[in-house]
Amino acid sequence: MKQTDYASILAEIKNNLQKQIAPFLKTLKQPQPSLGIGAGGDPIKQVDLAAEKAIVDTLADYGISFTLISEESGIREFGENPQECYVTTDPIDGTTNLMRGIPFYATSIALSTEPTLNTVYAALVADLVHGVTYTAQNGEGVHRNGQKIAPSQFASIESAVIGLDLNTYKVLEIIPRLTGLMQKTKHVRHFGANALELCYVADGTTDAFIDMRGKLRTTDVAAGWLILKEAGAMITTPDGEPLNAKLSPKQHVSFIAAGNPEIHRIILDLTRPEKEAR
Ligand code: IPD
Ligand code: CA
Repeated sequence: MKQTDYASILAEIKNNLQKQIAPFLKTLKQPQPSLGIGAGGDPIKQVDLAAEKAIVDTLADYGISFTLISEESGIREFGENPQECYVTTDPIDGTTNLMRGIPFYATSIALSTEPTLNTVYAALVADLVHGVTYTAQNGEGVHRNGQKIAPSQFASIESAVIGLDLNTYKVLEIIPRLTGLMQKTKHVRHFGANALELCYVADGTTDAFIDMRGKLRTTDVAAGWLILKEAGAMITTPDGEPLNAKLSPKQHVSFIAAGNPEIHRIILDLTRPEKEAR
């Protein structure tokens, strides 16, 4: 894909996706067909497939060769040179919210030269409820509906707004490491669509977002990774190392995303394994 083209192609994908999912939003209360389990391990909904189809069809209309890395149908090759471009997507991030009528879900699409997080060069995360789209290109910053954004410079952990995903059956395994942080901060949040919650750190809506469950797929993180980086925010492993991973619906990551180095350092310090509550 030519560098100059991808911003407009990503925007067109998003518009097509929104049109394709519209009919399904009207039938959420009706019984849903059973469509099996997606590549990421969750039950597939019709709306997830419609969103994925909009992505694939738009790229195919442009005659683009690509390898799709999707939470729904897994890894599939299209065109004559599928290694030319890797398209990593969670077509709908926050499917449970969508199905239950909770107004917080998004689409997440990342383009990369290799199937690795650190080669993502263009990204789009679109909030499909509020008409807010985040776009980023390597070295060119990040925009929210066309306006440049910047992360929070706030560094007081007591009054910071901290996103924290505790959504796992194995919560008892991660809680000890998080207790020190949770005891210090008043405002803990989780909205249920992690790709969009990463963008909230990028534009300063929240000060940090932490997911230490080891279960979030790289398909959910790929676009947010570039959006954070281009905004000047941070995303590292829970031990403070640069976050890199294979792009695959089967590859899981844990991370600390933060608006600025100071709040990142405070969180790292409070969540060090040796500080675990016993
Ligand atoms: C989910 C959301 C949610 C997170 C889950 C993800 P999905 O994505 O990002 O916030 O807690 O782990 O699976 O399944 O709606 O695409
Ligand atoms: Ca999904």
